[in-house]
Amino acid sequence: MKSKKDFLKEEIKHIDIKQHNVVQLVDAMEHMAFSARNLNRAARIYDMMLKDKECGIILTLAGSIFSAGLKRVVYDLVMNNMVDAIVSTGAIMVDQDFFEALGFKHYIGSPFSDDNLLRELHIDRIYDTYIDEDELRICDETCGKIADSLEPRPYSSREFIWEMGKYLEDHGGPKAEDSVVFAAFKKNVPIFVPAFSDCSAGFGFVMHQTQNPAKHLSIDSAKDFLELTQIKLKSNETGIFMIGGGVPKNFTQDIVVAADILKEDAPMHKYAVQITVADERDGALSGSTLKEASSWGKVETTFEQMVYGEATVVFPLVAGYAYHKGSWKERKPKEFQKIFSGENIIA
Ligand SMILES: NC(=O)c1ccc[n+]([C@@H]2O[C@H](COP(=O)([O-])OP(=O)(O)OC[C@H]3O[C@@H](n4cnc5c(N)ncnc54)[C@H](O)[C@@H]3O)[C@@H](O)[C@H]2O)c1
Repeated sequence: MKSKKDFLKEEIKHIDIKQHNVVQLVDAMEHMAFSARNLNRAARIYDMMLKDKECGIILTLAGSIFSAGLKRVVYDLVMNNMVDAIVSTGAIMVDQDFFEALGFKHYIGSPFSDDNLLRELHIDRIYDTYIDEDELRICDETCGKIADSLEPRPYSSREFIWEMGKYLEDHGGPKAEDSVVFAAFKKNVPIFVPAFSDCSAGFGFVMHQTQNPAKHLSIDSAKDFLELTQIKLKSNETGIFMIGGGVPKNFTQDIVVAADILKEDAPMHKYAVQITVADERDGALSGSTLKEASSWGKVETTFEQMVYGEATVVFPLVAGYAYHKGSWKERKPKEFQKIFSGENIIA
């Protein structure tokens, strides 16, 4: 019988946008049709966001995109001041990013594998990718340990993820070097995960709350929403770059409405780009168009672009285009994290 080692052999390698100048390719797409032309427009709108000094850029992430090799793309966006806040799922930030920062890997697999055998061997499968379930348990436990070490009170997910960054500073070493959680900690880029318990951290919290029934930490999702809205109020002009849909997309679009409730006439998101495989026919959020979002008062329609395509293909092209165009070189870090420590932010 095959052993675990036979399956967990070949690591997923993260693509490095710095190594591939795609500007000419993406420029050529402007004169094509269909998805190529849409992709070109999306890349140019992202570049416009980077040129607009007033614009705070919020990146939203859904799906299993870090386990698929896109972690370094986001790492490079954070390190080069190409994004000012991130709204993500727990799967991406904890099960995938923090997990790799603890020294674990994702492995190349196959959708045609024997899933009963994988179950027996404690191997989890995400389409054509394998994960060692026993290592994932260590990630759960580490989140529980971080919770145990903190003052018992309600935290926003942003606060807890900042503590995860601090944990990596103290314990991570070289394994954590390309972690987005750690990069964001160093660059004062806040990360929000509105459904934070729906991931490896949730298992850690179950342990933490069971072992500390009287006094324990909790995650306050209303606080998350208020904090993200505060970013909108401070930044005024905003652009959103959305990879996939889900809760991060809606949460980020909705801060315009929340800001409007707190302060009259808060501007809609000025720029919006979404890469998604979902279309609009089911009326669900993930595929709802940005044009539709404008009817809700969330997104302006002048600079918005949907790109219907899978993120592992489209995201490196859009991000790589903006990276090699270099508009980010003139951009100062906004350091929105400092809003929450009472420090002034650099505009
Ligand atoms: N994805 C996982 O492996 C995983 C693991 C553990 C926990 N979770 C949890 O499940 C919950 C739901 O996750 P979700 O919001 O990512 O849901 P999801 O994976 O269903 O993604 C939401 C939508 O984003 C779009 N999308 C996703 N991947 C894409 C891709 N590669 N390219 C283009 N579009 C894409 C699709 O339209 C999809 O319907 C979260 O709370 C998450 O933490 C997920």
